Amino acid sequence: MNLLSGLINTLKRKLKLSFFSIFDIIVLGDKMISDSIVNQIKEVVKECGKTILNADRENMKIEEKEGIANIVTNYDVQVQNILKEKLLLILPEAKFMGEENEEIQEETDDLTFVVDPIDGTNNFARDLGLSAISVGLLQNKKPILGICYNPYRDELFEAQKGKGSYLNGKKIHVSDLLLKDGLVACGNASYYVELKDKSIEIQNKLIKEASCYRRLGCAVIEICSIASGRTEAYFELKLMPWDFTAASIILTEAGGSITTLEGKEINYFKPSSILASNNKEDYLKYIW
Ligand code: IPD
Ligand code: CA
Ligand code: CA
Repeated sequence: MNLLSGLINTLKRKLKLSFFSIFDIIVLGDKMISDSIVNQIKEVVKECGKTILNADRENMKIEEKEGIANIVTNYDVQVQNILKEKLLLILPEAKFMGEENEEIQEETDDLTFVVDPIDGTNNFARDLGLSAISVGLLQNKKPILGICYNPYRDELFEAQKGKGSYLNGKKIHVSDLLLKDGLVACGNASYYVELKDKSIEIQNKLIKEASCYRRLGCAVIEICSIASGRTEAYFELKLMPWDFTAASIILTEAGGSITTLEGKEINYFKPSSILASNNKEDYLKYIW
């Protein structure tokens, strides 16, 4: 963190003031945030990546949450606490919605962080090396910033509204492949037993058409993989806002499309089905 942003944060803390962040936004116009703010957020996210990589597996605490195979580790909670504290220092006027110990917030036009401290908790708990930290920022109920970080590959995906998508600073774009030559990732709504059959039904329809399919167990990486041209499509019958907010802007800014499985616009304050694709054809025709 550079000297100036450090000084600003100290002042903000001391004066309980949000002037500098509001100033940053106003100076740059509606729906824009300064590079300094984005850089500070990226720094915090990368720091949290180290916490994940250095996790003490011998003493890891794992608890069950509602649903099947829905778990939380002490690291999910720890990373979310760090994110909440540090992100709200960077943008004190923002609201915060995170997966652990938080409900979905009431709909608001205000700036709202939407955070998944570890997407792919099962992968993390089993040391599969396929998880990501996800920080999205909503304004007027739509994502204006997305940062997703896979610490295992040191890959940071980022996008801001109207500015394109980047992977470790390099512009990314969706592929041109059609499903017949493409790779589809299938979510199985793992925490919801009532959705399993339907998931398998849709999965069967898609994999019959596709050249290949995968199940990665991390919605964030599944969506960012389409944005970077590594895969072509992904679906899941039920995800929460923290699973898809940041990745959705990374995908759309890379030329992709993300809607509900009915092809409708996503509400970022509600659980939602997700159909994400490289936008090269109408995937709905394969499903319904
Ligand atoms: C889960 C993962 C998984 C998806 C689940 C999500 P979590 O998030 O993204 O791939 O199938 O629906 O809830 O619980 O590991 O953060
Ligand atoms: Ca998640
Ligand atoms: Ca999570």
